[in-house]
Amino acid sequence: MSGIVGYLGKRNALPILLDCLDKVDYRGYDSAGVAVSNLEHIELRKTVGRIRDLRSLLIREPLHKGTLGIGHTRWATHGTPSVTNSHPLTGCDERFIVVHNGIIENYPYLKRKLIKQGHDFATETDTEVIPHLLEEHDTGDLEETVRIIIPMLKGSFALAIMSKEQPGIIVAVSQDNPLVLGFGKGEAFLASDIPALLPLTREIRPIKNGEIAILSEGKVTLKNMDGTAIEPGHTLIEWGLQDVMLQDYEHYMLKEIFEQPKAIQETLSARLKEDRVFLPELDELWNEEEIKSLTRITIVASGTSYHSGMIGRKVLQKLLNLPIEVNFSSEFRYEHPELTEQNLVIILSQSGETADTLSALREAKKYGCPVIAITNTAGSSVSRKADCTLYTKAGPEMAVASTKAYTSQLAILVLLAIWLAEKGGWHGAEQIPELLKWLKRLPGDVESTLIMTQDAIDQFAQLTYDQENIFLIGRGLDYVLALEGALKLQEVAYIHADAYAAGEMKHGTMALITPGVPVIALATQQEVLEKTISNIKEVKARDAFVIGITTVGDDLLAEEVDEVMYIPSTHPLLMPILAAVPLQLLAYYSGTVRGHDVDRPRNLAKSLTVE
Ligand code: G6P
Repeated sequence: MSGIVGYLGKRNALPILLDCLDKVDYRGYDSAGVAVSNLEHIELRKTVGRIRDLRSLLIREPLHKGTLGIGHTRWATHGTPSVTNSHPLTGCDERFIVVHNGIIENYPYLKRKLIKQGHDFATETDTEVIPHLLEEHDTGDLEETVRIIIPMLKGSFALAIMSKEQPGIIVAVSQDNPLVLGFGKGEAFLASDIPALLPLTREIRPIKNGEIAILSEGKVTLKNMDGTAIEPGHTLIEWGLQDVMLQDYEHYMLKEIFEQPKAIQETLSARLKEDRVFLPELDELWNEEEIKSLTRITIVASGTSYHSGMIGRKVLQKLLNLPIEVNFSSEFRYEHPELTEQNLVIILSQSGETADTLSALREAKKYGCPVIAITNTAGSSVSRKADCTLYTKAGPEMAVASTKAYTSQLAILVLLAIWLAEKGGWHGAEQIPELLKWLKRLPGDVESTLIMTQDAIDQFAQLTYDQENIFLIGRGLDYVLALEGALKLQEVAYIHADAYAAGEMKHGTMALITPGVPVIALATQQEVLEKTISNIKEVKARDAFVIGITTVGDDLLAEEVDEVMYIPSTHPLLMPILAAVPLQLLAYYSGTVRGHDVDRPRNLAKSLTVE
């Protein structure tokens, strides 16, 4: 899992490549490298570490000036982060220069064969088979040679390739792995993700499976693998440069936490009118009879998106009387039930590129299930493969830890539940008017939550800066939200944070409660408030330091906890959206007080395009 960039034009390529690499480094930051051509020769530099380390190397060992080049930032999968394993990679004689994202699954077989053919391997990577294969099958024409070797590769890959014998060309290919072309005036760009291209162009085109892009002489030629030309057709991206700038914030994570009122507003606005929910994307997919014939809903996602799926499941359950289940993308293929054409599958993915999620989507399609994708990324692989896509309008999310995309997903899941309940005439339909009333107020309520909790959470994070364990407890929707709160603390503060259903503590976890250990008690669900308070008393009796999060107007909790934090009151099904905010802030401040790079947490990456 890595980031790829490329440039072809008249300008000095190196600064453009480095700026683009800065914008895709959330995809991985173990090592980085570039290759630049001055149309006669190609020079390479690579290093362990981040793009800033590459910049330092380039000051110590400058590259020649050139007008085309490729770059890479790596999240190590095969082989440790080392200079040797860094991309760009070359073969025996450095004829071909390759940057790769993804995994070549049959590389052991290819490597053995190439070694027998006399090739010497220098790295532990799967990628290195590619330059060797290119050498082995070299026809003297880069495009043709690439076309010969692509069918030999199994797995998912995005590739940008240069050849020292044709130093004016970049060839790019993508197979189940994101790679986007950007178009400028007399110049062209390549990047793994759209945000990297925003400072340069808003005209983009993802490279699809079975296509080959040739960047040369200031333009892009797109072809099928058989050589027939394709008219690229550009998409104009709505996102702007401001969306990927830090502006006055110190970190993207904090900026994105504060962008949530706007993200939710944008996600809801065109779809919520005159007390009705409009999802025209879905009208094309089904008629009412087909909706009524649905027998089950299966939600599939990974990471934070999985947690929004868990909340989505509870919301859907309240409004529809259908069996609803939620699966990890990485487990779905091995444990899904008998799927049928009446089984709606909802795929959740901020990036729309998570490899496990894409595999799950393909699995669902094999059974003929209708598939709705919910993603934040226009033109992403998930959206191209699903029957229909509901886009969250959170804008680009740059921090590795997902915040605004998560709450926007929750908002759209509520819309979807309402839409299905209305169309299908299911039992929860009578709750809809009240839910709609609160949905309209949601962006403002999120804004108020930010104001009400920011300082108190900051102080709590300072107070608990030396704690290595934190427990989060809650019941019902509060429990599911606690799981996401714990994940955030693990991701950016490296705290051993665990979430428990409050009523389950007594069955084992209570043994871990020692005096002073911080416990965050979520108590936003009136339905189970009294029971939650009983569980809070149990941990208090063991001298835990309990901070309670509840709604304005609730006086019961304050008497039971060491500190209480109030958030606005809203519809119970929307409470997880508000209560997510203090948990995100807690992770942010806990991470920064410990001196961690919260935007680029260790060992993680924003979008995992490997299974
Ligand atoms: C990575 C990210 C997480 C994200 C997960 C799923 O692990 O670090 O923040 O939740 O992938 O990503 P998706 O784009 O599919 O929602």
